[in-house]
Amino acid sequence: MDKPVATQNEPYATEVEKGETYYWCACGLSKKQPFCDGSHSETDFKPIVFEAKESETVYLCGCRTTRDAPFCDGSHSSL
Ligand code: FES
Repeated sequence: MDKPVATQNEPYATEVEKGETYYWCACGLSKKQPFCDGSHSETDFKPIVFEAKESETVYLCGCRTTRDAPFCDGSHSSL
């Protein structure tokens, strides 16, 4: 598997809590999108770990072409 799988062509609007750690699925295989469920284990992909700086809604990449992972950078609009 060379490329990650796009799971949707728009970001996941996701509520996060300040100080909590999250694992964004980088491979696209997780059944618990947009978070890692361990399905990457047979690939070279690893989840991207981030800590929420605020309790807020963040927009996590669903198309897997962002250059600002795990966050949406708008790349899906040019696919
Ligand atoms: Fe995709 Fe873990 S399941 S990175």
